[in-house]
Amino acid sequence: DQIKKVDRFLYHMHLSDDVLLDVMTRFQAEMVKGLERDAHPTAAVKMLPTFVRSIPDGSEKGDFLALDLGGSKFRVLKVKVSEDGKQNVQMESQFYPTPKEITLGNGTELFDYVADCLADFMETKNIKHKKFPLGFTFSFPCIQTKLEEGVLLSWTKYFKVRGVQETDVTSSLRHALRKHKDVDVDVLALVNDTVGTMMTCGYDDQRCEVGVIIGTGTNACYMEEMSNIDLVEGDEGRMCINTEWGAFGDDGSLDDLRTEFDREIDLGSINPGKQLFEKMISGLYLGELVRLILLKMAKKGLLFNGKISAALRTKDKIETKHVAAMEKHKEGLQNTKEILMELGLTPSEEDCIAVQHVCTIVSFRSANLCAAALAAILTRLRENKKLIRLRTTVGIDGTLYKTHPQYPKRLHKVVRRLVPNCDVRFLLSESGSGKGAAMVTAVACRLVSQRK
Ligand code: BG6
Ligand code: GLC
Repeated sequence: DQIKKVDRFLYHMHLSDDVLLDVMTRFQAEMVKGLERDAHPTAAVKMLPTFVRSIPDGSEKGDFLALDLGGSKFRVLKVKVSEDGKQNVQMESQFYPTPKEITLGNGTELFDYVADCLADFMETKNIKHKKFPLGFTFSFPCIQTKLEEGVLLSWTKYFKVRGVQETDVTSSLRHALRKHKDVDVDVLALVNDTVGTMMTCGYDDQRCEVGVIIGTGTNACYMEEMSNIDLVEGDEGRMCINTEWGAFGDDGSLDDLRTEFDREIDLGSINPGKQLFEKMISGLYLGELVRLILLKMAKKGLLFNGKISAALRTKDKIETKHVAAMEKHKEGLQNTKEILMELGLTPSEEDCIAVQHVCTIVSFRSANLCAAALAAILTRLRENKKLIRLRTTVGIDGTLYKTHPQYPKRLHKVVRRLVPNCDVRFLLSESGSGKGAAMVTAVACRLVSQRK
């Protein structure tokens, strides 16, 4: 029947637990490699030190500004953290668009735009006269040598801005801010969104020591022992490592698992050969994966009576939000029919069942792969602490995780199966990375004032 037909066609996308355990072992090896000083420039998984040394302890306080750039939405925030016995955070934020001219333009334009949005925000909130510390959530791989500086290694996702790679993004931001005479901010922290998420969740749950994003892109960070981080002086305590797991496989190490559809996605992307793990998982690519599969199946006469519409041939016509809608528990089948008709197709009942199953296989594979990499991180944490059982919390965020009806449940289940000796609590970050960036900034602020 329909289900079997699809299963047979997508046989390579089904990953058994043995395969996932193998992926987990491969990722464990990648982490070790990335942490070694010598391997660093060539390692696919970068394992970037973040200079964040602890999760929030509740003593953070003050008024902060934060910028949150690189996910599906760009926003500016004002975060007020008060220390009044019980923890207390107030946030105000404003979204700003990120048009293609900006995400595919040049560096000066990008940072001028970011500075303009910040100035606009301060204007509307009537806070231009005040001096603020600022945390910059910048969701791309950066080499950091201190908390407030970072050199962009490469653009990922849908960003490709000229003249920024290999430069310090904080100093570009400062430069752009100087053009606004009435804006007085101190950029004190540069934070990846995974780190922001871990800190946001860490504020509510002290056990949180991992941050995961499954959104436009995918990535994770976790607290590593300083003694294992060759790139940073000192052996005391821990530091958060931004794994940049999206680049897992960029050296060919996952080629046996990648399908013809994964190769096609990669070739049609703005960064071929890069972020290969991410391209099998995250929101920017999931819908397109489904479209490529449907197109191929239709061409082979396995769907829609072999009929193909112009829309089905058009890149990005199926988006991840459509995949989520098609997999909805009750309305899923009806949604599938409507979405396919929108694409100019005339699906039969059987077609709809088959298409829905394609979606399930693609999104299930995504959750499985994330689970395998996350299981590797959890195992590493457990071994670092020399524990037989680990009890920990994973802070998690991202539109795919938050809006796909089945995704969280599947991810949690597979993780628990792959690492039965870890008791994991998954904590959804309700307020994004901005709050966490403010926490990091608060700590930096305290250190600055102590030095004075
Ligand atoms: C948000 C963060 O909550 O999650 C962003 O504040 C982050 O900075 C995002 O990038 C990830 O999700 P998405 O789906 O927007 O890429
Ligand atoms: C991409 C970025 C990474 C970010 C992730 C999630 O993988 O390279 O820095 O954390 O997307 O937004």
